[in-house]
Amino acid sequence: MYVYPIILTQSSFTHKDSLKYPFEERGLQFGDGIYEVVRIYHGTYYLLEAHVDRLFRSAEAIKIQLPYNKEELTNLLIELLEKNKMTNDGKVYMQVTRGSAPRDHVFPADVMPNIYAYVQDQSRNLAGLENGVHAITHRDIRWENCYIKSLNLLPNVLAKQTAKDNDCYEAILHKDSTVTECSSSNVYLVKDGKIFTHPATNNILHGCVRMAIERFTKEMNIPFIEEAFSVEDISLADEMFLSSSTSEITPVVKVDNTQIADGEPGPITINLQQAYERDANIHEIKIKQTL
Ligand code: PDD
Repeated sequence: MYVYPIILTQSSFTHKDSLKYPFEERGLQFGDGIYEVVRIYHGTYYLLEAHVDRLFRSAEAIKIQLPYNKEELTNLLIELLEKNKMTNDGKVYMQVTRGSAPRDHVFPADVMPNIYAYVQDQSRNLAGLENGVHAITHRDIRWENCYIKSLNLLPNVLAKQTAKDNDCYEAILHKDSTVTECSSSNVYLVKDGKIFTHPATNNILHGCVRMAIERFTKEMNIPFIEEAFSVEDISLADEMFLSSSTSEITPVVKVDNTQIADGEPGPITINLQQAYERDANIHEIKIKQTL
């Protein structure tokens, strides 16, 4: 993947090769930090405001004081795209850590957060969007504050790798059989024309695409029910899909050994994908099914 040369660090723009991180850095040593991934279509951010809001919520939750307000950060992120002459589909990765200091669990006094953001090209996963993906179920062994977009992703990484080892795209996480979300996306089950998904509690990340989906369902008069479903409910689903900034709205057509309905993306999922494309001003998915 091509990494653009200009990155945003501590309010200024630097060539990526001149970024030097000390090894005593709290993000590296403790995972003491937060991040965001923002989607870009044709050089323009999608849902940027929601991502900036969430970054501030995460920072507050772990007691990091950001050196800018939301408007200043938004302007810096827009400038980052301009400086990189970004016109493709891609994403920005942005990370904030508590800072650099001699290793000690206690917060260091007078430390400045380390902040950087960089742009990467990323094309849309059209095959997955059009045909759907397979998933496994996996125990959710994460902590109790999953609403914070924390750098501590080891349980997510291990679950995603287990999915990959089983030729699957995602791991659907569950606590005592109650489905929370996936390793790097939110997940939904459709039954009798209604969408079910885990409520936005501490146990899931409150996805920006999830928020957009809730908005689409209001416009489309589809019930969006924030009620958790169980691993056992999956075999009875009419449709399933997952969402994230990089996966958009991806149909899930098989979970473990269970095929979802006829194994094809379902009509509600396809309608939501079309709403997403309209909202993001992109029109590329080939719809297989006539609605
Ligand atoms: N992940 N749940 C988890 C655990 C996630 O990591 C993500 C996003 C989401 C979806 O959030 P959003 O709709 O705001 O992208 C849900 C990003 C893409 C990542 O870590 O790369």
